[in-house]
Order: sequence, then structure tokens, then C-alpha cells
Amino acid sequence: MNRQKTLEPSLLAADPGFLAEQMKQAERGGALMWHLDVMDGHFVPNLSFGPHICAGLKIHTQLPIDVHLMVSNPSRLIDPFLEAGASSVILHVELADSEPIPQMLREIRLAGAVPAISLNPKTPLELIEPYLLMVGRVLLMSVEPGYGGQTFLPGSIDRVRELRERIGRVNPDVEIQLDGGVTLENAKAAAEAGADILIAGSAVFEASDIEARCRKFLELIES
Ligand code: DX5
Ligand code: ZN
Repeated sequence: MNRQKTLEPSLLAADPGFLAEQMKQAERGGALMWHLDVMDGHFVPNLSFGPHICAGLKIHTQLPIDVHLMVSNPSRLIDPFLEAGASSVILHVELADSEPIPQMLREIRLAGAVPAISLNPKTPLELIEPYLLMVGRVLLMSVEPGYGGQTFLPGSIDRVRELRERIGRVNPDVEIQLDGGVTLENAKAAAEAGADILIAGSAVFEASDIEARCRKFLELIES
């Protein structure tokens, strides 16, 4: 299937003092959605953005905000993020024993947002199978979650390919997002392996020309 490939800049790597300005530059370069990493200092060691930031960003952009919940108690945060204007919410499958994932995915969909499920690099791909008819996207981590600027883990491209096959058998409409260490060097291979949405933080916002860097990414993944 020939699908539209998209770049999703991760705001974790943007300069907090110039967030709105850098978002405009990425938007001019063709970015179509924003990745907002939510970390609680428990599921991952780091802390990042809360619903208040999501609501504040909404004022400065028309583009959808995609919320990646790297928290131990996502059920507490779904409503606040939906109210803050999240267009999609990503839950981690590693929490399936302690959190009501199917119920949360339903709640996200009922609110008109896109439900998504995510897996860490070492999590077996088969764990997402029970959710494939409930989600619009699967996010594959290509680094251990928690920090931006890490190196892309070898084996991630093969995991994208295998995930694409698994999804194809059950619900081919589900899009694959790849998150962590995505650069100009690996973007094309990731897209060719079946990733639809490439999430990139440092590789976008550390560029001296953010707009041109986004265009370059899109040229690579669209060709
Ligand atoms: C890591 C986050 C990623 C990260 C990507 O826990 O989920 O979204 O911000 O940043 P880079 O592209 O710098 O690896
Ligand atoms: Zn993320």
C-alpha cells in the first residue's frame, strides 16, 4: 500500500524559550503534527510536559497535538489531556497488567481523538495484537523511552518491517509511528520498511535551519 508519509517533530527537543517560534518554522517546513512527550519521573526517570502546556500550545497552532503518555497511571491523565486539546493519545502496552488499556482506548476514541498503543524496544511485538482493532496507530520506540537525543537502536528497522506484516494481517489501516533517534540517515529506510509517521526531536530542532531540515526529511521519506 502506498501511503502518505509524515514527519512529526517532538517538542521535547525544541528550545522552551522559543517553542511557538520554532513550531512555526517546522510548520513552514511541512510538519503536519506535534509530538508531546509526557513523562512522570516513574514510568521513565525524566519529567516533561503536563496538560497545561498542551492547552497553552493549542493556542499557537492549528496542527494536531499527539500526546505520548510515558506515565505509570495514564488513566488519570487521559481526560485532562483530551480537555487540553490532544488530537491523539498514545498508551504504553507495558502497563497492560495494571491499567485498563481497552477501556482507555475506547474513551479516547469516543472523545473524537485517535487512540494509539506503544511498545518499548524490548517489548515483544505480539503484545499489541489484542489492540489492533481498537487503535489508529502503533508507536514503536527505537530508543529506551525517557530522553531525547539518544542513538537509534539497531534492529528497529527490522521491527518496523515485522510490525507492518503483523498489522497487515489484522488491520492494515493502522499507521506505524517510529520514535527515538530518527535522523536524516535512517529516515528513508524506516519509511521504506513501513513506518508512516517519523517522530524526530533533536534531528529537527538542533538544525540551524529548522524549516529546511523538515523539508529535507519530507523529501527523503516521500521519495
Ligand atoms: C523519548 C521520546 C521521544 C524523543 C525523541 O522518550 O518518546 O519522542 O523525544 O527525540 P529524539 O528524536 O531526539 O530521539
Ligand atoms: Zn515520544
